[in-house]
Amino acid sequence: MNIGTGSAERQVYIGGEYVPENEARVSIFDHAVLYGDAVFDTACAWGGKVFKLDEHIDRLFESAHALKIEIPLDKAGVREVVLEIMRRNKLESAYIKIIVTRGVGRMPLMSPYNCEPNLIAFAIPYLSLIDSGVQQEGIRAGISSMRRIPSESLDAKIKCCNYLNHILMRMEANEAGLDEAIELDIGGYVAEAPGYNVFIAKQGVLYTPGENILVGVTRQTVMELAAAAGMETVVGRLTAFDLYNADEVFLTSTAGGIFAVRELDGRQIGGGKPGPITQLLNQRYTELLESGEQSTPVHPPADA
Ligand SMILES: Cc1ncc(COP(=O)(O)O)c(C=O)c1O
Repeated sequence: MNIGTGSAERQVYIGGEYVPENEARVSIFDHAVLYGDAVFDTACAWGGKVFKLDEHIDRLFESAHALKIEIPLDKAGVREVVLEIMRRNKLESAYIKIIVTRGVGRMPLMSPYNCEPNLIAFAIPYLSLIDSGVQQEGIRAGISSMRRIPSESLDAKIKCCNYLNHILMRMEANEAGLDEAIELDIGGYVAEAPGYNVFIAKQGVLYTPGENILVGVTRQTVMELAAAAGMETVVGRLTAFDLYNADEVFLTSTAGGIFAVRELDGRQIGGGKPGPITQLLNQRYTELLESGEQSTPVHPPADA
């Protein structure tokens, strides 16, 4: 599948209307282009239902509010746009992205005032961020030599369109022959990974960092599934040592699901393959997605 080649068939939402992808245009003066000044969120749909859509929309509004970007539609309007791009592209399972740019200001200067925000949304056939073979075996990761931008400088809770810090850490890992990076914060504690939250399991208890992270929708779901399975999750500081010596380490995200880290910095983690807790949570997560219980149907019921 080619993304961004200008498909005339795919419909996207931009600037208040639905247009073919090859007609979608963003101004070179949009602050998203000039300064990375924009927010986004990623949701996924399976079997005609978008999982936790309202949670993703809530987070998008919180990110935008924190940056004083006013989203041109209300939450119900954004929800309808997402469902409509699914319908227009006849998608049942999809990777969905909603972006809100600061927009074009009066001059191509840095002033964030008097800009007109632009809401963009697209949906493409579902694609996992993780290769299925790698997902089944677990990944090889390394702790990055860089540090996650501290929340004192840019709050990690804001899902903004400036991912350079994450991209550089992923590149460093990939160029060292690894699948992914683990990000430490300025204090040396585990924060997250480029696009994922981090969990460890040790003696039947889950641990996950609570600071300098994007508060992941999947992270929250995992904590709920763990609680339902009688497992406690402790939110707190973790070090590289804790990860090296965990029974299991796994990562979570909407587009990647739940998958194990089998090796970190050349050290085998646990049994060197996805452990029983990772597998159990992954299974419960898949069941939850398939049940549609916490999902928004793309098509309204026939009698609505
Ligand atoms: C930096 C970062 N951390 C964590 C996550 C996981 O969040 P979620 O589970 O909501 O997809 C993401 C997802 O895109 C992310 O970009």
